[in-house]
This record gives sequence, structure tokens and C-alpha cells, in this order.
Amino acid sequence: MVKKLTLSISVVIALCLISAGLVLAQTGDPKRGAQVYAQNCVVCHGPDGKGRIGANLSTTFGGINPKAFFEQVIAAGVANSPMPAWSQEKGGPLSKQDVADVAAYVAGLTGGTEPIAPAPSVAPLPITPAPGVVGDPSAGSVVFAQNCAVCHGAKGEGRIGVTLQKNWAGINPAAYIRSTVEKGVTGSAMPAWLNTSGGPLTSKDIDNVSAFILTALKTSGGATPTPAPVAGPIGFGAGMAILALVVVLLGAVAYGYYRRA
Ligand code: HEC
Ligand code: HEC
Repeated sequence: MVKKLTLSISVVIALCLISAGLVLAQTGDPKRGAQVYAQNCVVCHGPDGKGRIGANLSTTFGGINPKAFFEQVIAAGVANSPMPAWSQEKGGPLSKQDVADVAAYVAGLTGGTEPIAPAPSVAPLPITPAPGVVGDPSAGSVVFAQNCAVCHGAKGEGRIGVTLQKNWAGINPAAYIRSTVEKGVTGSAMPAWLNTSGGPLTSKDIDNVSAFILTALKTSGGATPTPAPVAGPIGFGAGMAILALVVVLLGAVAYGYYRRA
């Protein structure tokens, strides 16, 4: 009697945990989404969601199910705009859970009244300027970490954007890098960064970040310790599912133990 009871209780607990996990996995966890947002979206949508290079997300969106719309846009991106596709299925860095969580966070940004994701603060790396390169690579390391690492990787190794760890061909690589950063690449996820082209960076910022790319990324193979975006903690939904598994196993062990005794 006691044995059967142990097993059924553990099965009931497990079922509860599994369903809690499934519900959370479907709806998304806005707290975790805030982290995903800080690491991937602040750069374009701003710390308050009000827009920087990207659209203003801090408004009330119409439609029956704005969260489903967000999930779709975030997963697939917006063609011919700087909004990249973020889901792993589309070659992006975010899992399904990440997309659901960040969509839940964005859905809560109505009117900017919700808690604001912190803007990442970064200390400049000490980098000796190379002769003949215009701009300050140390200052450029900060511009890079705050604006470019999200797509090009913390060390320029490539993530959504291409790798920048390369030996630049051509007669004047500095001019090529500078103009690419200023104007962006039409039809790709690479936005225009210069403030006169609608971007957030000054001409001086672009000199500095170009110097950083040429000086620190080219030859070192990206040995610059820009802080890598930290992966978020394991999703609550997944955590629940694992807990449920543990409960089932414990129940089964207890059942076997009582049967033998
Ligand atoms: C490189 C810049 C950039 C980054 C990074 C970026 N976005 Fe966007 N996003 C844009 C731009 C630009 C648009 C507007 C696209 C258009 O409709 O032309 C946009 C549009 C959107 C929209 C649709 C808004 C609307 O009014 O239709 C959502 C939702 C969104 N982004 C969420 C996100 C989330 C979440 C992240 C992080 C995972 C993110 N974006 C990262 C640039 C960016
Ligand atoms: C939303 C993602 C994204 C962000 C943010 C971003 N880039 Fe890019 N970048 C790209 C993509 C994608 C390409 C490749 C474009 C193509 O040629 O199709 C690219 C290309 C480039 C290139 C040309 C590389 C080559 O081999 O020709 C340079 C230089 C560059 N980016 C620098 C920067 C700098 C500097 C920043 C920050 C100020 C930045 N990018 C921010 C996505 C991004």
C-alpha cells in the first residue's frame, strides 16, 4: 500500500512539474528575456527599448497576439533591414527558449514603464597605436564591445556578422573598413553607423573602432579580451523538466526498495 502510494505521489508531483515547465517554455520568461535583450538587442533598440539604430519597441503594439508577432520577427529578422534573424534555425545565436523569453520581455516594454535593461559598461583595453593608423584603438575597443561584438563576436571572430580577424586585402584597408562601418552593407544585417547616416556613432568613434579592428584584430587573431556575452542561466522551463525527471527516478527507486523489503 505504502509503496503504491509513494509511486503515485511522485508521479503526480512529476506531472505538475512537467506541465509547469511546458507552460513556462511556451510563454517565455521576461526576467530571463531581459538578459537576452541586454546582450543582443540594446545595441540597436537602446537600453529603454526606445530605439537607437533599430525601431522603437517601447510602444503598445496592436494586433491580437503581439507576442507571437515578436517571436516571429525576432526569430526570422526583417529582410533588407539591419534587423538580423536571431533563431538558431535561421543561423542566429538564440535558442527557441531565448526567443520566447526575449519576446516576453519586449511585450512588457509598452511605453517604457518596465524595468530597463542595463547598458553594458566596458573598460578600454590598453592597445598601442600602430604607426600610420588614424584613430585610438583603445577607445575603439569600447566602441567595438558596445556596438559590434553582438554580431562580430567579442574577439571579432564572427557570430551573426562575418569574422573581422583577417588580413585586409586592398591598397587602403583603413578606408575600406571606415566606409563599410559608416554606410553599412545594403541588403545585409550590417547597419550604417555614422550619425549623419542615421547611426549612433560620431566620425571619431568610427576612426577609433577602425583603428581597433586594424591594430588589435588583424594580426593577433583576436587575442583581445573583450568580455564575451555571458550565456543566460538555464531556462526555468528546462529546469522544471529536469526536476520532474529526478522526482520520477527517486519515486521508482523508492518503489523498488519497498517491493524488495
Ligand atoms: C543591428 C541592429 C538590430 C539589432 C541588434 C536588433 N534589432 Fe530589432 N530591429 C532593427 C531594425 C532596424 C528594425 C526595424 C526593421 C524594419 O521594419 O525596417 C527592427 C525591428 C524589430 C522588431 C519589430 C518592431 C516593429 O515595429 O515591427 C522587433 C520586435 C525587434 N526588432 C526585436 C529585437 C530583439 C528582441 C532583438 C535582440 C534579440 C533585436 N531586435 C536586435 C534592428 C536591430
Ligand atoms: C547586426 C549585426 C551587425 C552589427 C551590430 C555590426 N555588423 Fe559589421 N557586418 C555584419 C554583417 C552581416 C557583415 C557582412 C556584410 C556582407 O558583406 O554581406 C558585416 C561586415 C562588416 C565589415 C566588412 C567585413 C569584410 O570582410 O568586408 C566590417 C569592417 C564591419 N562589419 C565592421 C563593423 C563594426 C566596426 C561594427 C560596430 C560599429 C559592426 N560591424 C557592427 C553585421 C553586423
